[in-house]
Amino acid sequence: MNKSQNIYDNQDFFDGYKKLRDNQYSANNLEEKPALFSLAPDLQGKAVLDLGCGYGENCAEFKALGATTVLGVDISEKMLAVATAEHSDIEFIRADMSDLSFLKRKFDVVFSSLALHYIENFGLFVKDVYSLLNDGGYFIFSQEHPLTTAPIAGASWSKDADDNVLHYNLTDYARGGKRSTRWIVDGVEKYHRTFSEIINALVTAGFTIEKMIEPIPTKETIERDKSWEKYLHKPNFLLIKAMKKME
Ligand SMILES: C[S@@+](CC[C@H](N)C(=O)[O-])C[C@H]1O[C@@H](n2cnc3c(N)ncnc32)[C@H](O)[C@@H]1O
Repeated sequence: MNKSQNIYDNQDFFDGYKKLRDNQYSANNLEEKPALFSLAPDLQGKAVLDLGCGYGENCAEFKALGATTVLGVDISEKMLAVATAEHSDIEFIRADMSDLSFLKRKFDVVFSSLALHYIENFGLFVKDVYSLLNDGGYFIFSQEHPLTTAPIAGASWSKDADDNVLHYNLTDYARGGKRSTRWIVDGVEKYHRTFSEIINALVTAGFTIEKMIEPIPTKETIERDKSWEKYLHKPNFLLIKAMKKME
């Protein structure tokens, strides 16, 4: 079935990821989710697709915000086992979203939260999403920030003798393509794309970009934990809201 890597079905990865997500102060909770939901249009009566839906948490919120139908798609059996157990009123399909030709219906809003850096052919993927949307529909996604995915050796920071962060070690930005990194386990495959590659793929597919967000930690977050201050050098995430123009 899979063309793409399915690392979330690796038991060690799955357990480690669960621990990260159980932390109330995770980057997802503090930065990514608030930014994602701030981009959501009125979902009342809308048909919503969530690509790389994971545990289905966002799907449940889309429904609570008034969406009439919500479909979650994910490649991972383990993630979907949690999703179906916790959200029995939502439809989930196990599939590799790098080929969306199995979807025969249209949607008003397509969301994808922190999954697109796992997709190799972004241009093709974005064209598929465009054709799945109704006119005036939205594609709203978050991904690891391109400055995070850039270094081939993995993201790292330079520190002084007292362990204070001096700066982010940016390398390989213009070298797009596959990255094999250690994140929870070795050999996690992600794809690095420059800003221009991301934006040009969206524009080429026909999208109009309405808004971008690179969330940074709030003052309260930094006061609670000074280690968050480094994300003022380099944000964790990139979020984009793009619209399919009315024909
Ligand atoms: C970081 S998790 C995010 C889960 C969820 N969107 C959230 O924000 O809570 C990434 C998810 O993308 C899924 N994923 C990765 N590659 C995929 C692919 N090619 N097709 C479908 N899902 C994929 C993973 O299985 C995982 O559940």
